[in-house]
Amino acid sequence: MAKPSLLVIGCGSIGERHLRCSQQTGRVQATACDANPALLQKMADTYQVPVAADWQAALRSKFDAVVICTPANLHVPMAIQALAAGSHVLVEKPLACTLAGLDELFRARERSGRQVAVAYVLHVYTLLAEAREFLRRGEFGPVRQATVVSGQCFPFFRPAYAQTYYRDRRTGGGAIQDALTHSVNWMESVLGPADSVLCDCAHLVLPNVEVEDTVHVSSRHGAALATLALNQFQQPNETTFQFNSARGSVKIELHQQRWGTFAEGAKDWTWHHVPAGERDTPFIVQAQAFLDQLEGQPSRLCSLEAAAQTLRFNLAALASAASGARVACASVHA
Ligand SMILES: NC(=O)c1ccc[n+]([C@@H]2O[C@H](COP(=O)([O-])OP(=O)(O)OC[C@H]3O[C@@H](n4cnc5c(N)ncnc54)[C@H](O)[C@@H]3O)[C@@H](O)[C@H]2O)c1
Repeated sequence: MAKPSLLVIGCGSIGERHLRCSQQTGRVQATACDANPALLQKMADTYQVPVAADWQAALRSKFDAVVICTPANLHVPMAIQALAAGSHVLVEKPLACTLAGLDELFRARERSGRQVAVAYVLHVYTLLAEAREFLRRGEFGPVRQATVVSGQCFPFFRPAYAQTYYRDRRTGGGAIQDALTHSVNWMESVLGPADSVLCDCAHLVLPNVEVEDTVHVSSRHGAALATLALNQFQQPNETTFQFNSARGSVKIELHQQRWGTFAEGAKDWTWHHVPAGERDTPFIVQAQAFLDQLEGQPSRLCSLEAAAQTLRFNLAALASAASGARVACASVHA
């Protein structure tokens, strides 16, 4: 039987990774699409894949699935057209930069009967899945309070950041939409959707951009309070989540590849080490999970509904930072 055909639209930093990692599953026939001819030639030479310069023309030649890896302002219109062309869609985070077209995207999914997943890659980390499963079992009682402390030196990981979508909030730039959104989305998968957020942010350090590189958020998720702090200039690349319940706490240290529990009466943390593998490993797992979903298996990826909620969180955080007031963000799509 022929392997499903997959079109990767946008073959920049993450698009190339999707192309390579989907190829490594051995389960797809991939085609690369990008508006930049030099990049397309590189994809053809490196991965021996067919290429397409025009995404709309490419969609007309019928792909089983499309991975959308362009800047976030293009995600929704591209996803709507891909669904209309009959393709399943995996779309990069954040889902969008505004709510424009979101209702139409939900309708396009209903009409097409196709699958849509959003590439919030933390969903495929075994470490996080284990910790979330433990929390959902409720051994320590409901989570009452959560913290996320996160930071990395973004210019080290993305030297060209100031020449990309990152430099402009309208294309998905800044710490809130680009970086914090990963933690927000995963935290909401544990605590449920945030009802409201209070946000402070600033551009403090990164050269050659004006968007915020530092953000502090206080959010409410039903009865639970959360706080998230992130910067994009600190030297250590570290992310720590902590979920506190009346009878114990759960801590996740992504950088140490471990999660732990501290039960009522315990003297210390009990740690579980779960290696995450190479840099590409989660993206190969994500590609496998998407293909499994297309074959009818239950989704292990972020749903369109959850990503729409996280988009509302992003927009509420931006609005709160601008006004200084707490802003509501519960999703109508949840
Ligand atoms: N999940 C992750 O870990 C992760 C990491 C990086 C980026 N991202 C997300 O992925 C998206 C892309 O980020 P990136 O870093 O790869 O950006 P990038 O700038 O490196 O690549 C974007 C590519 O899209 C192409 N493009 C733009 N408009 C196009 C069009 N109309 N038709 C075809 N190609 C077009 C550009 O030529 C470019 O090559 C963003 O939403 C970003 O937030 C996710």
